[in-house]
Amino acid sequence: MTLFKQLYLKFRYYIVGLFYFKYTIPAFLYSLERDRVERAEPQLGTAEPFDSPGKLLNVESTPRGANFYFEQAELHISYLTRDLVRVDWKPGLEPIPYAIARQDWPEVETTLAETEDGWTLDSGELQMAVAWDGSLQWRDRAGALFRQEQPPQRKPEGWIHRAPLEQDERIYGLGERASSLNLRQAEDKEGNPKTFRIWNFDAAGKYTPGSDPMYISIPIYMGLHNNGSYLIFYENSYEGHFTFADVATADFEGGPLRYYLTSGPPAQLLERYTKLTGLSPLPPRWALGYHQSRWGYRTEKNIQDMVDEFQARDLPLSAVHLDIDCQVGFRAFTIDPDRFPNLPKFTEDLLEKGVRFIAILNPGIKYSRDSNLFLEGQLLGAFCTRSDGTLVSAPVWPGWSVFPDFTNSKVRHWWSRQYRYLLDAGVTGFWHDMNEPACFVAWGDGTLPPRSTKHFMEGRGGDHREAHNLYGLLQAQAGYESLCNHHPDRRPFIVSRSGWAGLQRYAWTWTGDIESSWGALHQTIATVLGMGLSGIPYSGPDIGGFQGNPSPELYLRWFQMATFLPFYRTHSSNNVEARPPWVYGEPTLSIVKAFLELRYRLMPYFYTLAQETSQKGYPLVRPLFWADPQDSQLWDIEDGFLLGDALLIWAVAEKGMRSRSVRLPQGTWYYFWQDRQFEGGQSVTVETPLEQIPVFVKAGSIVPMEEGNCLILHLYPPVQGSGEGWIYSDAGDGYEEGRSDRFYMVRDEQGLEVRWEEEGTYPFPYTQVQVHLHGFQPQQAWIDDREVEIQGRLIQGERFSRLYVRGSD
Ligand code: GLC
Repeated sequence: MTLFKQLYLKFRYYIVGLFYFKYTIPAFLYSLERDRVERAEPQLGTAEPFDSPGKLLNVESTPRGANFYFEQAELHISYLTRDLVRVDWKPGLEPIPYAIARQDWPEVETTLAETEDGWTLDSGELQMAVAWDGSLQWRDRAGALFRQEQPPQRKPEGWIHRAPLEQDERIYGLGERASSLNLRQAEDKEGNPKTFRIWNFDAAGKYTPGSDPMYISIPIYMGLHNNGSYLIFYENSYEGHFTFADVATADFEGGPLRYYLTSGPPAQLLERYTKLTGLSPLPPRWALGYHQSRWGYRTEKNIQDMVDEFQARDLPLSAVHLDIDCQVGFRAFTIDPDRFPNLPKFTEDLLEKGVRFIAILNPGIKYSRDSNLFLEGQLLGAFCTRSDGTLVSAPVWPGWSVFPDFTNSKVRHWWSRQYRYLLDAGVTGFWHDMNEPACFVAWGDGTLPPRSTKHFMEGRGGDHREAHNLYGLLQAQAGYESLCNHHPDRRPFIVSRSGWAGLQRYAWTWTGDIESSWGALHQTIATVLGMGLSGIPYSGPDIGGFQGNPSPELYLRWFQMATFLPFYRTHSSNNVEARPPWVYGEPTLSIVKAFLELRYRLMPYFYTLAQETSQKGYPLVRPLFWADPQDSQLWDIEDGFLLGDALLIWAVAEKGMRSRSVRLPQGTWYYFWQDRQFEGGQSVTVETPLEQIPVFVKAGSIVPMEEGNCLILHLYPPVQGSGEGWIYSDAGDGYEEGRSDRFYMVRDEQGLEVRWEEEGTYPFPYTQVQVHLHGFQPQQAWIDDREVEIQGRLIQGERFSRLYVRGSD
C-alpha cells in the first residue's frame, strides 16, 4: 500500500471515529441509568436452593417414561422417540417452547425396572439409570455407557448441572463460538479450561479468535468419545456458563432445568435435534450464489456502478446487501428516497441482471414523535418497558431507540406488517442486524437492562434475562412469516446476526464483525462447523474479515475457502477499503473469478445438499469426524471440512503457505485439481500454489456440476464395489414439486456401470449431459447399449438409464 493510501485510510478512520463521537454521551448516560435501574430492581431469587435433590422416595410410571420423586425435587423423564428423551427437573419455570418445532410425539413404550442402585428406564434404543441420589447414567442400544450426570444443584435462581466427561471426550457446539472446534481444548488466559458464556453479544465492531461470547449462544453440545457420541440441548434461554474440564458444568442464572438428550453418530444426532427444533427450509437457489456487500454503498449509483463492473468483468453475482447507509437516519424500514429515487425500477433492473436486493433491518426504533412507526408501536404497547410502564430506551444507530417486544405474538404480527412496502419496492430479502439486541454503552453489556426490562412472554410475563437470547430468534420468526405471507410463491431469505435454538427454521446467519487476520480466517472454519453442529446449517464469514484491510493473499485465501461455505458473501466495515474482487488486481482477480465460476458450476451439488438439509437437518459443511466418528485423529481438526459427503476442503490460513499437510479420513480420495489418488487414514502433503487450496473428492462419488444448459456428471469411481450420487432440481424458488435424479455406480473387472433413476414431476432442467471420468481411462462406452464416442475422459451425450464404460485406472 502506498504511503498516500495509508494516510488516506488513517484520515478516514478518524473521520468515521468523529462520527461515532455523537454516540458517546448517550452511551455514557445510558450506562449510568441502566446501572441505576438495575440496582433498584428487587432481587428475585424465590426458589428454595439445595445442593442435591435428596433421596429418591417414590417412582411412578407414565405413558412415555416415568416420574421420580426425591425429597426436594422431581425428575420427569419422557421419551419423545425411542432415542430422544426429555428430562425435566422440577420445580422450575415452564419454558415457552420457542425453540421447539414439534409437540405431538407418538407414544413410546418404555420398561421401568428396579435395580440395586435405583431404577432403569429403557426404550430398547436408549437406556437411563436413576440412582437413589439423583445421579443418572445413559447407555445406548448396545449397552455402552456414554454419559453420566451428577445430581443437579438448585440455586436461588437457576440450576447447576454437572456431567463427568470421559478422558478422551471432545465437546462441540454452544452455537456460535470464536473458539477451537473442540471446546474442551479452549483455555482462558490463566491456562484453565475456558468458561463459555451463553448470552448473545455484540463485540461492537470487532472480535478476534478467542472472544466470547458471540452473537448466537445456544446451550447445546455434542460429546464424542470412544464409547459413542450424544447431543444435549438445555431448553433454558437464561444466561448460562458452560465449562468443560473433567466435568462438564452447565450453570444457569435462572430458568428451568429441562434438557433433551439423544445418542448416535453425529448425522443421527442432527437429525433428531432438528426433529425437535425444526428443519431449515430449502432456500431459494440464488441464495447459494455470491453476495456482495459493504458498509458504505450509499446511493443507487454506487450499487449500479458496482453491479455494472461485475457484469463487465463477467463475474457472477446473485445479491447485493445494503447496509445502514441506505436508510434515512439509520431508521428501520426506511430507504432514503433521495439517494434511491427509483427504487422499484432499480430493483427490477437488478433482478433482470439476476441480482437480488437485500436490505438491512435493525430492531431499534428511533424514539421520536416524528416517527410514525414509533407512534404506532407506542399506541399498540409494542415496545419493551420497565415495570412502571416507562419505555426502555437505549442509544443505537438511529439515536435513542426503543425495542419491540417480540415475545408478544401481536407485536410480531405488527412487525411483520412493516416489511410490506419494502417488499413492494422490490427488496427480496432482509438482513437482521444488531438484534442481540445491541445498543451503545460506555461500560457493561451492550444490551437492554436484564432485570428491569419487562417482556410479555406470551402473556405469562418475564424479563430480559429470559428474553435476551430469544430476541433475534423471534425477530427472525416475524420476518420469515412476513415474507411467507407477502410472497406465498417465494421462499423467504433472511440473514440474522443473532438467534437461538430454532433459528434454522427462519434464517441464515453470518459470523459477524471478525478482524481481518490470518488467525481470523482459520477461526471461521471452527465457528461455521460449530454452528452446523448446533443445528444452524447456513452460515459464512465476511470474506476478508470485517475490520481491517486484508492483503491480496489473505483476501484470496479467504475467498477460496468461502467458495465452499454455505453463505458466500464479502462484507466489510465503513472505515476500510472497499472490497469488490477487482481491487486487488492480478493475479488475485483471475483466481477469484475462477473460484466464483467454480461455485456456480457446483450449484447442483450445493442445491442438492440444501435439499438434504431441509429433510434431515444435516449441516452442509461438516467436521472431518462426520466421515468416521471412530477415528480419533479427526476429532480436533479445525482447518479442514467436508462439504456434503463427497468433497473435502482444507483452508490455507497462513501467509506464504505453498504446501501443506492434510489428514484424510479412511477410504480413497481423489485430488480435485489433478485426479491423483490418495489412500485415506493418513496425512499427505499437497502443493498449495496461489491458484489452489486443497480439495479432495471421495472415491465412489458423483459430483454434479452445471455450465449453462449442460449437466456435467463428474464420476469418481470407487476402487471397487459401488458408489452413488443424486441431484435435486426444481424451479429454484416457490413450492412446486421438484425432481430427483439418482445415480448408482458399480465397478466391475472391465469397467464401470452407471444407472440413472428419475423421480418427481419437474421436467429435467438441462438440454445436454456430459459425463466426466476421473482417475479412470475410458476405452469404449455404451449409453443404453448403444456405443457412444469418447473424447479423452469425456462422454458427450444425453440422458441415459444405463451407461457402461470399459476402461481402467
Ligand atoms: C454491525 C454489523 C455489520 C454492519 C454494521 C453497520 O457491526 O455486524 O455487518 O456493517 O453493523 O450496520
